[in-house]
Amino acid sequence: MDYSQILYGGDYNPEQWLKYPDILEKDVLYMKKAHINTVTLGVFSWAILEPEEGNFCFSWLEDIMDNLYAHGIAVILATPSGARPKWLAELYPEVLRVDESRNRNLFGGRHNHCYTSPVYREKVRRINKELALRLGKHPAVILWHISNEYGGECHCPLCQQAFRVWLQKKYASIEVLNESWCTTFWSHIYQSFAQIESPSSRGESMIHGLNLDWKRFVTDQTVDFVRREIKAIKSEEPNKPITINMMYDYEGLNYHKFADIIDIVSWDSYPTWHKDNDYETAMQTGMQHDIMRCIKHKPFLLMESCPSATNWQGVSKLKKPNMLAAASFQALAHGSNSVLYFQIRQSRGSCEKFHGAVIDHYGGEDTRVFREVSDLGKQLGNIKELLGTVVHADVAVVYDWENRWAMKDAMGPRNKGLFYKEVVEKSYSAFRKQGLNVDVIDMEQDISAYKIVAAPMVYLFRCGFEERVRKFVEQGGIFVLTYWSGIVDENDRCFLGGTPHGLLDVMGMRSMEIDALYDGESNFLVPAENTIYEIASKYRCQHLCDLIEVTTARALMIYQDDFYHGYPAVTVNRFGGGQAYYIGADVEQKCYDDLYRHLLKEADLEPLIEGTISEGIEITSRKSQNAEYIIIQNYNDTAVQMNLSENRYHVLRGASIHNIPSLETLILKRKQ
Ligand code: GLA
Ligand code: ZN
Repeated sequence: MDYSQILYGGDYNPEQWLKYPDILEKDVLYMKKAHINTVTLGVFSWAILEPEEGNFCFSWLEDIMDNLYAHGIAVILATPSGARPKWLAELYPEVLRVDESRNRNLFGGRHNHCYTSPVYREKVRRINKELALRLGKHPAVILWHISNEYGGECHCPLCQQAFRVWLQKKYASIEVLNESWCTTFWSHIYQSFAQIESPSSRGESMIHGLNLDWKRFVTDQTVDFVRREIKAIKSEEPNKPITINMMYDYEGLNYHKFADIIDIVSWDSYPTWHKDNDYETAMQTGMQHDIMRCIKHKPFLLMESCPSATNWQGVSKLKKPNMLAAASFQALAHGSNSVLYFQIRQSRGSCEKFHGAVIDHYGGEDTRVFREVSDLGKQLGNIKELLGTVVHADVAVVYDWENRWAMKDAMGPRNKGLFYKEVVEKSYSAFRKQGLNVDVIDMEQDISAYKIVAAPMVYLFRCGFEERVRKFVEQGGIFVLTYWSGIVDENDRCFLGGTPHGLLDVMGMRSMEIDALYDGESNFLVPAENTIYEIASKYRCQHLCDLIEVTTARALMIYQDDFYHGYPAVTVNRFGGGQAYYIGADVEQKCYDDLYRHLLKEADLEPLIEGTISEGIEITSRKSQNAEYIIIQNYNDTAVQMNLSENRYHVLRGASIHNIPSLETLILKRKQ
């Protein structure tokens, strides 16, 4: 079997079709026609793999795997813990999840389990071990897919106890915990760890330190659960790599904490194309791809995507012709080594019966979707050389889970919305528009090798971030910080002595107050006298306006209106060999675009291609030691002319180097 190909295929649920042998037979033939080379099996098979406790039935799955293997199709084998059989919940009610109001769920749904329960852990260990023993060494298996989209939290007595132990380990004494959580406020002082309960709207939800630690605990407990799942697999089959499939902008788990226990990051991408502006959707999706790539700084896998329309979004819009290919090439461009779908065959009943699939209820290959899927499969065979390349970025944007948790919980300055993700996206897309690859990292990651680092709304400073920023700027880096940064410490306690904490000299300014604007209210930023770069006459800002005082920094833009008209709003400070920029207000995208164009020059960074980059065009690159590939995508409704020199590139995919039709992808290989 040839594993050196871009993985193409997706989730396949033959257990739903065991009574239809003719369909199972057809499926494999269709897969071959569609150039599918990989399927994910067993994600929701527990009730069939173990129909009663301890009675394992793997032969049906083995038959399917044998057949796939005989046809040259590889298998990503899932552990079934994402949904458990009824008997398990009936025999051991403790495996069912308890919600924050302390009610235990009934059996049903999926992800409905406690990650702490020793019984659940043992049952999962057992089936994983059996699965690895019986099928792990099967030559079709190329990768383990541990469970499915981990998420959610449990507030059962077992989880409460585990949380207390976690806290005890972290704080050692209850006095230190009280101090860290500021429990004197409202007289909520704890006398012992035994008194602590997870946050609940029926009880304690106002201690921000508690809320933050609970979220950290939920991540750690889930990581621990995954680690055990992996251990059970590895005990029988230690050699095959491991992945978990992550979700779009999922807030509940700090995905970075999984980096060390998995071999490959994978994720499930379901953008709402054709909604507002496809370029913006591409930017948002691209940023998520880059978050995923940066968790391990390695190529990742697109584990799920939809060949047509999902059925769970508010509106299930079809993908227009070419959208499927564009979205798939975008994943590859950002570092994926696969294009995988949910799902190969559409299920017949239950809640996903209208979710798109490669093969729909009609069951034929003469469908628009099947044709597009086959066509794409064929094309992927021609760009295999992308495997073995990686994405390299000189600039990074910081987007941090713990910061996001804390900021959302903070109460003030704008409970109606702080727009953290949107502000991160502004920096992200400003870099992209200049034709650069972008890393999206968290506050724990190393920043020293980048030329420019943007850190929007880093409200909570942790892991010595401010110290690393100081060094970065000192040593010549260009750093961008925004309003609402450096406000609280790791326990969500406000820093004393001025903000952005620890960076007052680096930034050459101090934030004195922050004004929150009502919905629809705005102010404007206008150029300060003798500003140093080309600025549109003014930019609109909304939501938050920082009132700052400069010490050594120089004002680039000032506020136009309100009692703080004339106050500096965008500043720059030289510090050591570098420069630190501050953006004081939630200003429109254009301001970021213009400023970042200037930053590129300051940092002496070249875009990935020569010439102007038109609106709606995304440029990315992947490279190895010997080759560099440039991927150019057109997310406009109409074709775009490009002024590229034929002497510089071989065309790997695309009709013309000068004209890119709507939703088309040009893949170029740079001539050496
Ligand atoms: C998620 C799940 C899949 C399926 C799809 C539907 O990504 O992992 O099992 O439910 O959503 O879009
Ligand atoms: Zn629990």
